[in-house]
Amino acid sequence: MTSTTIRSVSQESRIFEPPEEFRAAAHLSSFDEYTRIYEESITDPEGFWMARALEELVWAKPPTRAIEWEPPHAKFFADGELNVSVNCLDRHLEAGKGSKTAIVFEGEPGDIRKITYQELADEVNRAANLLKRLGAKKGDRVGIYMGMVPEAAIAMLACARLGLIHTVIFGGFAVESIRDRLNDASARFVFTQDGLHRRGKAVPLKAQVDKALEQVASVEKVIVFKRTGQEVDWVDGRDLDWAEAMTGESTDCAPEIVDAEHPLFILYTSGTTGKPKGVLHTTGGYLLSVKLSARYVFDLKDDDLYWCTADIGWVTGHSYVVYGMFANAATVMMYEGAPNHPNEARFWEIIERHRVTIFYTAPTAIRAFIRWGDQHPKAHDLSSLRLLGSVGEPINPEAWVWYYETIGNGRCPIVDTWWQTETGSIMLSPIPGATPVKPGACSHPFFGVVPKIVNESGEEVPDGTGGLLVIEKPWPSMLRTLWGDDQRFRETYFDIFPGKYFTGDGARRDEDGFYWVMGRIDDVLNISGHRLGTAEIESCLVGHPYVAEAAAVGRPDELKGQSLVAFITLKEGLEAGAEVAAKLADHVSQEIGRFACPEEIRFAHALPKTRSGKIVRRLLTKLAAGEELGGDMSTLEDPSVLDELKKKGY
Ligand code: PRX
Repeated sequence: MTSTTIRSVSQESRIFEPPEEFRAAAHLSSFDEYTRIYEESITDPEGFWMARALEELVWAKPPTRAIEWEPPHAKFFADGELNVSVNCLDRHLEAGKGSKTAIVFEGEPGDIRKITYQELADEVNRAANLLKRLGAKKGDRVGIYMGMVPEAAIAMLACARLGLIHTVIFGGFAVESIRDRLNDASARFVFTQDGLHRRGKAVPLKAQVDKALEQVASVEKVIVFKRTGQEVDWVDGRDLDWAEAMTGESTDCAPEIVDAEHPLFILYTSGTTGKPKGVLHTTGGYLLSVKLSARYVFDLKDDDLYWCTADIGWVTGHSYVVYGMFANAATVMMYEGAPNHPNEARFWEIIERHRVTIFYTAPTAIRAFIRWGDQHPKAHDLSSLRLLGSVGEPINPEAWVWYYETIGNGRCPIVDTWWQTETGSIMLSPIPGATPVKPGACSHPFFGVVPKIVNESGEEVPDGTGGLLVIEKPWPSMLRTLWGDDQRFRETYFDIFPGKYFTGDGARRDEDGFYWVMGRIDDVLNISGHRLGTAEIESCLVGHPYVAEAAAVGRPDELKGQSLVAFITLKEGLEAGAEVAAKLADHVSQEIGRFACPEEIRFAHALPKTRSGKIVRRLLTKLAAGEELGGDMSTLEDPSVLDELKKKGY
């Protein structure tokens, strides 16, 4: 934690009421109704969650109690038994929805596929039968390193069918990140694809897995979906071709019934140390939270075509492309490629072509749309849209208003949803037919969520004052632990304010009770809505043979929210320059992934340190942003390095 005096800069005070037409048809249509349900959920959480669990989910053995809370460990519906894939598939087939479209897929080259619930269930069962044939047992870990293709969702649901624990690795990650995650989870199986289409190129995925597996002993089989048809190396006995391997498999597969607290997935996310955290989510509570929030926050209806642009490799893809959506029998749009391929109108074309009704994206994308110009959305019929969403970082009021007017044509409410990999589901958000909204505010807590804004001593601060965002009570989809590191779980989230979940975000509640989240207050950056720990980049950079020491900090970036600046000391005898900088950037791309590449690299013979040897990151952050340093430099060991570091880098 670096600072608790958080200055709140937003002065936005406009209020937008839910459009009347929207309100009239919404699941929740008044703020009073929202308040009544919310109050019920926090005054009697046991009763509230028990009732919802029995109403919303199909159980093999219904639970008799909802919550067990021994901070920092929570259990929900612990004596209940169920299967996630039954809740996402079988129950809809039984309800006669087999012919309803589950996924509308558009590949970047323009190929379109529609998959019904029946077809999805058949494919999931085939994949599960294949895993069974390969010897997979309940509790085994399965890596999924794929792009945005329906097969990624099929692989996830096939794991859920058998009680296997998946860990999806974002397709933008490179070798070192894949290797570390597979090793940490001791994965036995990996699903991947030859490559994915991105900006007109075939980006190799299997080749990265092949390299990573040179240093992973636990993986026995790799199932390869052929998407691009590009050349791949093949390890006989280890690698299986998805299409060939599935052909003989039956479309019937009995679900493995698991305890409500059985792990569903591990999703790695960046923290303040170099090692990513394996956030563990379990079955019953997670499914209930994502199902309920998906329905109320997105006001999901049977005939909606819902499109979330997040990749399946992030938590948004897990909760609001796959589990929350299929649990509601929703129809989900899935697009494989870049928003600006073959041109900047691609997203608007997709909305027009398929008649998308709900569109959920990130502020960084919205800022890019603004930059690309109004002519693109204006040239397309976006009248099918009825609701817009935002997630991943604070949305500045200007971008909010542009989104509202230019994309939503003033007709569509916007839900600005705050949540995290750890929270599993949306925690703060407007309810679109019920909540009047202020641009830039995440509005109000979802059912069962008790947020508080506190100072460094854990005392609540008055409304209007910035502070740290904590969550007071457990909620069904909260992370249960960090895989293999319960100690770090305690320390990171619960030791700071005993018994309360610490989010790592700064926030404020205004006089009208609206929550405004201002972003991370630790050394975690938010680059284009992707979470990156500076320590992770630093440990990658010092892993390069040229580098003696490295520090990475964020600087404000108009488009990405934040960008990364690295400060480097090279080993003796090496000369700084553009060529070395390019090599280091390439190294980060190769090891972690392109999106983690520093935007600028600066060199010096040493980094600014205190006399006790601690790097003064505060100064580096100012240097990166081009701000005046000011203040007292007498504690620095060698103030002369600052002049060197002020120079622009490469
Ligand atoms: O800083 C907050 C920011 O994203 C962080 C969580 O990142 P991640 O676990 O990758 O999950 C992103 C998608 C759920 C938070 O700690 N954040 C997320 N949504 C918002 C946000 N900041 C402000 N407003 C939001 N709506």
